[in-house]
Amino acid sequence: MPRAARPDRPHATGRKSSRPKVDHRTRQKAHEYELDALSGLEHVAETELAAVPLARDVRGPRFWYPGDPDRLTRLKSVIAVYRVQSWDVPRPRGLLGHQQLGELTDYLRSVVAVGGHTSFRLGAAGKESSVMQRLAEELQTSLELPHDPEAGELLIRLRPQEDGPGWDVLARITPRPLSARAWRVCNMGGGLNATIAYAVHKLAGQRDVDRIFNPMSGSGTLLVERALMGPADAMVGVDISQSAVDCAQQNLKAAGREVEVACLDALHTGLPARSFDLITADLPWGDAIGSHMDNEVLYPAFLNEMHRLTSRQGRLAVITHEIRLFERVLQEQTKWAGREILQVASGGHHPKVYLLNRR
Ligand SMILES: C[S@@+](CC[C@H](N)C(=O)[O-])C[C@H]1O[C@@H](n2cnc3c(N)ncnc32)[C@H](O)[C@@H]1O
Repeated sequence: MPRAARPDRPHATGRKSSRPKVDHRTRQKAHEYELDALSGLEHVAETELAAVPLARDVRGPRFWYPGDPDRLTRLKSVIAVYRVQSWDVPRPRGLLGHQQLGELTDYLRSVVAVGGHTSFRLGAAGKESSVMQRLAEELQTSLELPHDPEAGELLIRLRPQEDGPGWDVLARITPRPLSARAWRVCNMGGGLNATIAYAVHKLAGQRDVDRIFNPMSGSGTLLVERALMGPADAMVGVDISQSAVDCAQQNLKAAGREVEVACLDALHTGLPARSFDLITADLPWGDAIGSHMDNEVLYPAFLNEMHRLTSRQGRLAVITHEIRLFERVLQEQTKWAGREILQVASGGHHPKVYLLNRR
């Protein structure tokens, strides 16, 4: 049997009133959801979720929510949001029972009604097994959706329950991951995951009065995500490659934001000293972009030039996978005091993010 949504608790007002003043949405049926964030960004996701009205009973990535799921699709720090329902069955085979299959279909239809998915796929360990194949066949008929094992839009994950003997079925509420932003019309090798760009800006501090510089802007991920977060006093990006500049401009246009991006060497921009309050930089990691040897020269020169460009209280957020090199270079200089604020798993890499302040 699926676990029923928890009934809303009665509200104690302490006053004799005819009706408690309760947001009408809290009387809607709550569903259980789970956030999927990159490993390392869980706390950023939790903070973002805390600002979602009506999200309650939060246990790590899991929570109950009676509001419009559309609000959850606007979360910026997560890869995906799943609706969750649990069945008291010892094995996935139990989901093939007549009653369970009917319940499973109703549940998945409710998710398709939210996301408008046009195909589905199973994402479970052992998805090639005969039980999973039968489940896929049954769902294809009952959901009237094609089963596309590679690119199905409704991603259905089956997992043993963590806190019980049954199985959880998680269904992604959007056809595409939330990290695949609609604004990304131009992709570049070495492009940053957009959820990391959002997290960097949140952790570096979002201030309307900041003059922001994004040297080495690549496809513009940091610029677009910051521009979408809210106003800033100024924002400028540069990249040494014209194709990267074109790519960033396409993405900014698709996002409906105007930001100046110039084709310049970040170390020789000719910009006046102390032009910026916040600099965010996703440095070449020395694999897809740049080389380790070049970075030996680039990293110290970069820290020097960014020091010149930042205001007295200025801060510099650096993302890199050249961790040893960056930490050595940081130790060998005296202009910046820095600390690691994040390490995140992304695309087989584990880049770190450092936040530096001028000494
Ligand atoms: C890791 S990529 C940035 C990726 C970017 N965050 C994105 O999401 O697409 C590094 C970028 O630095 C640029 N770059 C390397 N050396 C540079 C320099 N001296 N001045 C400006 N840009 C530089 C490269 O052209 C590349 O686009």
